Amino acid sequence: MKELIDKLEKEKKLSKEEFITLIDNRTEDLSEYLFERARVVREILYGKDVYLRGLIELSNYCKNDCYYCGIRKSNLKIERYRLTKEQILECCDIGYTLGYRTFVLQGGEDRYFSQGVMVDIIQSIKQKYSDCAITLSLGEKSYNTYLAYYEAGADRYLLRHETANSYHYSQLHPERLTAEKRKKCLSDLKKIGFQVGTGFMVGSPFQTTETLAEDLAYIYEFQPHMIGIGPFMSHHQTPFADAKNGSMDLTLFMLALLRLMLPHVLLPTTTALSSIDPAGRAKGLLAGANVIMPNLTPSDARNKYSIYDNKITISDDALLNKQSLEDLVNEAGYRIASVRGDARVMK
Ligand code: 5AD
Repeated sequence: MKELIDKLEKEKKLSKEEFITLIDNRTEDLSEYLFERARVVREILYGKDVYLRGLIELSNYCKNDCYYCGIRKSNLKIERYRLTKEQILECCDIGYTLGYRTFVLQGGEDRYFSQGVMVDIIQSIKQKYSDCAITLSLGEKSYNTYLAYYEAGADRYLLRHETANSYHYSQLHPERLTAEKRKKCLSDLKKIGFQVGTGFMVGSPFQTTETLAEDLAYIYEFQPHMIGIGPFMSHHQTPFADAKNGSMDLTLFMLALLRLMLPHVLLPTTTALSSIDPAGRAKGLLAGANVIMPNLTPSDARNKYSIYDNKITISDDALLNKQSLEDLVNEAGYRIASVRGDARVMK
């Protein structure tokens, strides 16, 4: 198995069958070897630097009805909220003072945040913080809307493909959402010039090693700048209330494979990872991740942005304490870099 890891490091690519073999035969020993190679590769381009992204959850209104997600429109039991422009700018102020130079505006597909409203928000943030990058994570939009966001000053866009397999996609989403549409949005974003992030949940219902290998193949072909992955976590007010959560082990293994496959990629150690294990964030860094996204959303709103159960909220506050965040990163052997943190390229 170690030969397959060496091959991936060298050639950046494995066949679907090879990925399946590797994933299905993972042991603790093999994982340790993989994580070590992932750390070596991340250091070639990024050294010991860890980048911070200040996450601002704009709204938990959503017109979509994804079966796994707690803020799906059929969930009539959650209290909905949306932040005002002033609140969003306040979050940026707090983040800027803490040293963050990227703000991630994330939200459900909320019609209130129309193209015009978003363009105004993006321009206002850019005017005030011209040295910062803006990342958007607002779902599927038309080409022209993406273009308007880009022209207003947005730099990056996150849109997880969720699963590259069309049938699996249909098992996770209502009929009007398709894998093809999602992939079309991703190529539109890239064509416009965004730094683009995609990704998937690990351990989502109906996922198999084969669909995971298809995710890796799709990601290799797409060559994103960023990848967000985290374990699936069930939410009690969704059709997948009783589904099993994704595992820490497999998530870390996938993170490290992604690092070897795309050495330049910006790879966050996600909130979902620390939600299944308090040590998750550090473990993610040790498996090749190089980005942390602390939550800047005001706490009353943050509690309502419940895409899955047991999402960390209070413990996340600790990350807003500059010292505890620094301690976490330093203990893992890394250091925080207070810069925009764009993707590096191989020379
Ligand atoms: N568990 C884990 N991740 C989830 N997401 C949505 N619902 C869940 C869940 N129940 C992820 C999706 C989405 C991102 C914003 O959060 O991958 O793209």
